Amino acid sequence: TPDIRPLVAGNWKMNGLRSDLDQIKAIADSIDAELAEKIDILLCPPMTLLYVATALAEDTALLVGAQDCHTSQSGAHTGDVSAQMIADCLGEFAIVGHSERRTDHGEDDATVKAKAQAAISADLTAIVCIGETEEERKSGRTLEVLGRQLEGSVPGGATAETVVIAYEPVWAIGTGLTPTPADIEEAHAFMRRTLADRYGAEGEKMRLLYGGSVKPGNASELMAIANVDGALVGGASLKAVDFLAICEAY
Ligand code: G3P
Repeated sequence: TPDIRPLVAGNWKMNGLRSDLDQIKAIADSIDAELAEKIDILLCPPMTLLYVATALAEDTALLVGAQDCHTSQSGAHTGDVSAQMIADCLGEFAIVGHSERRTDHGEDDATVKAKAQAAISADLTAIVCIGETEEERKSGRTLEVLGRQLEGSVPGGATAETVVIAYEPVWAIGTGLTPTPADIEEAHAFMRRTLADRYGAEGEKMRLLYGGSVKPGNASELMAIANVDGALVGGASLKAVDFLAICEAY
C-alpha cells in the first residue's frame, strides 16, 4: 500500500537455542542502509533469547519483539511474561493471538484483545493475528471469521503506531500452502475496509501483514498484492539467509 512503511517480521516460535544467536547477529549485521530505508525488519525469538537478542540488535536497524505477553503487567502468574518485562528487555513488539496460542492455550478473542491492550500500555506495538481454519475457508466463511476476529481482538483505541494486523490462514501455517493472490487480495481489502470504518485514518494506515508459508521463492509475489504491507514469517525466519532473502524481496 502506498505510504505505508512495510514490516517483515520473523516468528521463531519455540525454536532457537544460544547456538542460534549467530543467526540473529547475522540478520542484524546484514541490514544495510538501503534496506533499512525501505522496510522495518523485526525478529521475535523465544523469551529465553529476548534480552540477548536486543543487545545484538543494538546500533543496528533490527527490531526485536516477543511472541506473546500476559494480560497483566505483574503479579501471581507463574511462568508468564508481561509486556512491561518485554519492554524492560528493550523489546518493541509483541505478537498476540497467534493461532498456535489460540489452539494450544485456548485463547479467545477477548483474551487476545486484553493482551494487545497490555502490550500497548507498555508502549509495545501489538501484532494481532487472525485467520480462518481450513474448514471455515471451505464453507465460505473466511470474511465472516476475519470480521469477527478483528472486532473481538483489536482494542478500541488502536492506531497505526500501536497495532499491526497479521492475516495468517491457519491451514497455510507451516504447510507450504498459500491462498491464491486473489484470495489474499480479497481478505486484505476486507480487513482494510473494516479497519478504516472502525478507526478512520488510522485504519487506512495500519499495517496488514500476510503470514503462512512465506518463503524466499514466493515473497515478491505475495508482497506485491494490494494492501499487503509486509509478512509474518515462521520457518523461513530461522536461517538468516532465507529471512534476509525475504526482506530483499521488497
Ligand atoms: O507466525 C508465522 C507463522 O505462523 C507462519 O509460519 O512457518 O508457515 O512461515 P510458516
